Amino acid sequence: MSWEQLESACTSCHECPLGDRRTNIVIGTGNRNADIMFVGEAPGADEDKTGIPFVGAAGKHLDKFLAAVGMKREDVYIANILKCRPPNNRDPLPEEQDVCIKYLREQVKLIKPKIIVCLGRISAMRLIDPEFRITKMHGRFFKRGEFYICAVYHPSALLRDPSKNEDMYTDLKKVKAKLAEL
Ligand code: URA
Repeated sequence: MSWEQLESACTSCHECPLGDRRTNIVIGTGNRNADIMFVGEAPGADEDKTGIPFVGAAGKHLDKFLAAVGMKREDVYIANILKCRPPNNRDPLPEEQDVCIKYLREQVKLIKPKIIVCLGRISAMRLIDPEFRITKMHGRFFKRGEFYICAVYHPSALLRDPSKNEDMYTDLKKVKAKLAEL
């Protein structure tokens, strides 16, 4: 699939009920040749309004961490497991993830990142291990075919509990170091 085909498949998608409620589909943003790809869970209200992932409060918090470790949004690619906003920002349902995950798989094939960083528990449980425990397993790398994958705290979790900020900083530094080593 090309980027054009992917965008057209996403924008015409009504395979789950979220497709009928969206203002905008939120496909992804950033560098299509990125070495590092971040994957969150699903768009929120600001993302639904703009069509761009992580532009609300959580996104601004993520930007601060990227800056702190010397990464720029333009250098990385950012997407979500779901491309449409779940009502009231509830967790994505397994059946919504099941139909939407094919678009993320196509994005990974097109971008060919060296490292995928799951933002939060939902993304880690879908992409790394259904039993993933974010508090215990954040910052650990797993080799999957052509790339490494790890998970860090979701920026919204950091806003709720700033005591986790230090872990996020350490984990993102580990991601940079891992990339340098590859
Ligand atoms: N939270 C997410 O997981 N993704 C977004 O795009 C915004 C908030």
